[in-house]
Amino acid sequence: MTAPATKEPALITLTIDGRQAAAAPGTTVIEAAAALGIDIPHLCYCPELPSTGSCRLCLVEIEGVRGLVVACKREVAPGMVVRTNSAEIRDARRFVVELFLSRHPRGCLTCEASGRCLLQRYAYELGAQHDRFPYEDPGFAVDDANPFIIRDPNLCVLCGRCIRICKLQGAGILDFIYRGLDTKVGTPWDRPLLQSGCDFCGSCVGVCPTGALTEKPGRGRGREWELRKAPSVCNLCGAACAVDLHLKDNTVVRASSPRPTGFLCGRGRFGWTRFSHPERLTAPMVRKGGVLEPVEWEEALEAAARGLQTVWRKWGSGAVGGVLGTDVSRETGHGFLEVMRGGLQTDRIYSTLSFGGLDVLCDLQAVSGGRYAALADVAAADVLLVIGDAVRRAPALWASINRALGRGAKLIYVGPYRGRLARAAGVWLRPRPGMTAVVLQRMAAALLREDGKARLPGRRLDNFADFLATLDTVPEGDPGSGVSDVDVSAAAGLFGDPAARAVTVFAVDGVDRSTARAAVNLALFTGRGERGLHPVAAVANAYGLIGTVPRGGTGRDATPGAENILSAMERHRAWYVLAEDPVSSFPDPERVRHAMEKADFLVVQDMFLTPTAAMADVVLPASGIPEENGSITDVTGNPVRFRQAVTAPAEITNLQILMEIASRLEPRPAGGDERRPPGKESPLASSPPKAMFLPVGIDGAAGEDSSGLWLVGWASRTGPLFHPRLRLQDFTVLEPYGGDYVSLAPEDGAALGLEEGTEVMVRSPSGRAGTRVKLDEGLERGVVLVSPDTPLARAVMGDRWPLGPTPIRLTPANGSQGRDGDR
Ligand code: FES
Repeated sequence: MTAPATKEPALITLTIDGRQAAAAPGTTVIEAAAALGIDIPHLCYCPELPSTGSCRLCLVEIEGVRGLVVACKREVAPGMVVRTNSAEIRDARRFVVELFLSRHPRGCLTCEASGRCLLQRYAYELGAQHDRFPYEDPGFAVDDANPFIIRDPNLCVLCGRCIRICKLQGAGILDFIYRGLDTKVGTPWDRPLLQSGCDFCGSCVGVCPTGALTEKPGRGRGREWELRKAPSVCNLCGAACAVDLHLKDNTVVRASSPRPTGFLCGRGRFGWTRFSHPERLTAPMVRKGGVLEPVEWEEALEAAARGLQTVWRKWGSGAVGGVLGTDVSRETGHGFLEVMRGGLQTDRIYSTLSFGGLDVLCDLQAVSGGRYAALADVAAADVLLVIGDAVRRAPALWASINRALGRGAKLIYVGPYRGRLARAAGVWLRPRPGMTAVVLQRMAAALLREDGKARLPGRRLDNFADFLATLDTVPEGDPGSGVSDVDVSAAAGLFGDPAARAVTVFAVDGVDRSTARAAVNLALFTGRGERGLHPVAAVANAYGLIGTVPRGGTGRDATPGAENILSAMERHRAWYVLAEDPVSSFPDPERVRHAMEKADFLVVQDMFLTPTAAMADVVLPASGIPEENGSITDVTGNPVRFRQAVTAPAEITNLQILMEIASRLEPRPAGGDERRPPGKESPLASSPPKAMFLPVGIDGAAGEDSSGLWLVGWASRTGPLFHPRLRLQDFTVLEPYGGDYVSLAPEDGAALGLEEGTEVMVRSPSGRAGTRVKLDEGLERGVVLVSPDTPLARAVMGDRWPLGPTPIRLTPANGSQGRDGDR
């Protein structure tokens, strides 16, 4: 039996300015006109945002209707006859514009929005007089006390677009405040943006029709008519958002979403500053007499190739180690692999993902082949299971989750922190550190008890019986997990609804391997395959590079742990580091520094002179994403391609540099290197993906011992940006104490005699480091959060970096960083 075809509603025909139009029911006149290419002047209307009809500029005539009508609110009707540009309409619009001008400063000569300001455009086009009404200075204070957004309410026309987009993106910071002529757009208690809880996604700037909201970093760097737009992709997290770069000559001066209401987080909208940063490397350098000196490209490439090859020839396969950044293109990654494997006979390539994330990626690849739900699927879900700090690692998620919640979706949140996710959740599960996998297993066990195995879609998988056997061992009740059976059942009931489109969201580098496996099992158990999983990453091209970084850099073990990785690193005699700063971004910085320092030869290819680059024998200036052609792979498994928009300061791309080095490496000996040619095995190539349940090992240390403090890696509000490599330190102002702090429950603070801002020493079995205390009511006792990208986390988490949980002691500070191993 074939399903009845869904009937498209009949189109409505109407006439606009003498032209025939056809529009779907519910279309507004302004939208129908836009479809014909007729632009009706508007200020408050913005496509994809609900219309408010407040500015009264989009006035049109409709035959048979008395007076003028606002086109952004009036829906089309059959036979409607619309005129958009009569003398009467223009008079009315001019009157409206002149009223706006009576309270709008006339500083167009210096206004940043000149050339893109709609009020300026309409005033000119309608011949508005700025002295028709007496001018009254609104006299509002300007808010520019942050690095990103200048908010000048004097230039505001109260269209409310910023308020609507702020709500749509899930922030809800902006609203109209005060009354009458004092009305303005403001924050709660009229605080500056920096103190309002704003995430600085800049969506409000993107829809502002005047100069009331402008980007601070781009100020004075180019007039609208001097700029050209080039499509690109943001590589500051795994969401791979499309971005339009605004370019003046060869310089990026602004970034925006291709759609007015498309979401870009603060990183995407303001992170472009790294491309035109004055500290960008512009020429290669070679160390001479202990000092790095600028040289010609030929000399630098020769020196790099010769130095690496000399070490390989002397010490053999594996003598050279590689470090590959996670924000490079797939092409650059594969080029690097070619140089390392083909030219230098080594597969020892390390990445920040080696320490956490690569193991999860390999598991995911094994069961699904790397194709998952898109952000649009998250927004369209009926039930969302969100685990951990994924939203902080990939902020575009929150905008999509918020859209789903707006449609009535149910949210199950699993995490320790009472933030906006917990507040929005229908069910909030708050496991003890290290116990998330147990709680997810208990959800599966609850579903089994409820539904019986005969009705569970997962029964079709080969190893269903094995999985059932593991569920038999899942304890009922609350054996240290911190979550009651009632809550587990409530979550299972929501998630198990067979009619619901359920999507599980987590960050591959934000959960431990057991948690990821338990989440995958739960999705498979309830019949949600890869389209029911959205495993993002905090880094840009995790899915594009997992075949490039061979199993954590240590050969066959996919989860070697920080200690094993660092030990392996210490054995290399030379290094090629591309787009990464391991001295700042790997755990145990002193040990990494020592491993690099004692090497015979170090080549670093990066955009800036990082601490690692400063130690190098050869420094090669790297290109950024807008400076290359290439692609990265997003969470759906699809390549997101980008084209070169500008030329790199050093006028050469990463891939060209790699090809030049490869061409200078002598061909490998006939028959290969008899000492030990590297294997070609890749985590991806071993076997085709097969949907199957994965074994789950439970750590649970913190669950057994709930008496002490446990340090947990939790991405900061602005994401993992606090290493200096990309010169994005502006973002640190969004964090208390510049990001250098640990958060703990006020009750723990009181018990330890610690107040807000107290300087403390954090001690763990692995090390100690000083920091400050932030008392946070969103936490419960025993849990201490730290951003994994901080020096503190790297110093004290030891083998459990970057996520923990790590047992710690907190005492008022009385010394500096170092190892003591006491607890
Ligand atoms: Fe229609 Fe403002 S655009 S009332």
